[in-house]
Amino acid sequence: CGIVGYIGRNDGVAVIVEGLKRLEYRGYDSAGVAMIGKDGKIAVVRCQGKIKELETRLEEQPLSGTVGIGHTRWATHGAPSDANAHPHRSGPFAVVHNGIIENYAELKEGLLAKGYEFTSETDTEVIVRLLEDQWKECNDYEESVRRVLRQLRGSYAVVFLNEQDPDVLVGARQESPLILGLGPDGHYFASDIPAILQHTRDVVLLDDGDVVFVTRDGYRVESLEGRARHPEVTVIDWNPIAAEKAGYKHFMQKEIFEQPRAIVDTLRSVVDLNREVLQVPELNLDAGLIGKIKKIYLVACGTSYHACLVGKYMLEGVCRVPVEVDLASEFRYRDPLLGEDALLIVVSQSGETADTRAALKEGMEKGAHCRAIVNVVGSSLARMAQGVLYTHAGPEIGVASTKAFTTQVVAFYLLALYWARTDGTLNQAGFSKYLKELLTLPRKLEEVLDRADVLRDWARHFRKVDHFLYLGRGILYPIALEGALKLKEISYVHAEGYAAGEMKHGPIALIDENMPVLVLAQKGDLYEKMLSNVQEVRARGGRVLAVVEGEPDPRLGEEAWQFTVPEAGKWLAPVVFSVPLQLLAYYVADLRGTDVDQPRNLAKSVTVE
Ligand code: G6P
Repeated sequence: CGIVGYIGRNDGVAVIVEGLKRLEYRGYDSAGVAMIGKDGKIAVVRCQGKIKELETRLEEQPLSGTVGIGHTRWATHGAPSDANAHPHRSGPFAVVHNGIIENYAELKEGLLAKGYEFTSETDTEVIVRLLEDQWKECNDYEESVRRVLRQLRGSYAVVFLNEQDPDVLVGARQESPLILGLGPDGHYFASDIPAILQHTRDVVLLDDGDVVFVTRDGYRVESLEGRARHPEVTVIDWNPIAAEKAGYKHFMQKEIFEQPRAIVDTLRSVVDLNREVLQVPELNLDAGLIGKIKKIYLVACGTSYHACLVGKYMLEGVCRVPVEVDLASEFRYRDPLLGEDALLIVVSQSGETADTRAALKEGMEKGAHCRAIVNVVGSSLARMAQGVLYTHAGPEIGVASTKAFTTQVVAFYLLALYWARTDGTLNQAGFSKYLKELLTLPRKLEEVLDRADVLRDWARHFRKVDHFLYLGRGILYPIALEGALKLKEISYVHAEGYAAGEMKHGPIALIDENMPVLVLAQKGDLYEKMLSNVQEVRARGGRVLAVVEGEPDPRLGEEAWQFTVPEAGKWLAPVVFSVPLQLLAYYVADLRGTDVDQPRNLAKSVTVE
């Protein structure tokens, strides 16, 4: 989502709407503005749809003022709708919010008990109702803001308006970006730099735990306890285009680097970390149903299909339930044998892919229980399915899917844990152990991302090669497929993914010095087998590139190119192994000069059959 706030001497509506337009790439399912008007009252205009719709609404219902807040939304709780659009109001206050409030249900219960009424399904409305509640108690605005923030668990960037104190704008952040812009004509809040770059280049990059009180002429940064902080002012020297990509050259590159955050958001949306409890209320899958299911079908297209292949290993391995995986375009035409004891889970980033929609329809007609793992809240699949598990990757702009894929894999991991915990296959101690592994995953991805330059060197060396073979075994076999797909999609280099054990039944005939072989070497049961496959490649003069878990291994060959990834455990290895392959594909494509974010012939969302 995107946030813009303004307090100054100019027409605030223009500043805010212009800023929101520059943040549209952050989410675009609904938008809104709140201004304090001449009458001293807050007026809100908000609607479902893109900023264009908001502009039309503003023509019908003009707003004016020099203090205001705006938001463009990417839904996380509650489908895109007018009522769920920000800003949200309560009493004299209005708020815009990015992030996820983990304990919103609990806070909402308390407020409902006190007689507060809610008009949206968002976690955000809880924040502003709570503010009204605290303010009624202490009658001190600044103190009530601090009280509210101290009660929130999760992530947030928020900006508050108060019609009783119209000359101050209050912002705060916790694990969701928020900056303060200092311009000659006023002060700005924004979730991202591009929103305000045309007004000022002087910004204060706020830290977690900061609360900021801003007037037309000054500002104060404090901690939640009220201690003053004096952060330095940074001068931004990027151009606005680079700023949209947060300084990255391409959206795909940015999205690769966003993966640690996307994974944290995904796990946080369903796990209560304090109590170590995993709940998936929107998935609508209780113990009774789990007990009845004899088989799970996972169905998707493209990269999401590869996530399903990984999901099969997890669900069968952890939950011991049979799983079948299908391409949506095949599934729907093969008259699949499913009925009441089957659970169909369709997986999609966009939630709009035509074949996947048809597969879901097929499952519904055959009486299977139908669920979806989707990234876009309120998308067609999310609405059609009888329950949803959302990935929280945020908007993915690059056509080649990266963060949506790794969050899908994490969603399957969470689903497997939920299933096994619910049917008793996993006890609390076992669950905690798996959860700990997941919690260390973002850090491990950071470690891989920190060494991205190594993969740029690989790309430089291999950029002229026309054919690549990717080999994986076990749960990394789908990652070999996905790695090859990434390279194909964006660099137009022919690449094939294969199960390493299957190489001798065909692709081995292709191997020579012109066809490098990239192997995914996971330590564990299958490692020795992979080493034998590597010998087979070397014996035929093939060049070996290895992504290897833990330490480099001389047995992969003295001349082999090796990139190490941290050990992440059997089930999460697919995530850490994916990242170097994404980076390699990205750098090869960039060096070959292709249109990385919009490769030829491909579409982000394929809504035709
Ligand atoms: C298109 C995209 C792929 C994506 C596939 C499935 O082909 O280019 O990146 O994996 O559709 O999309 P979905 O939104 O259903 O995951």
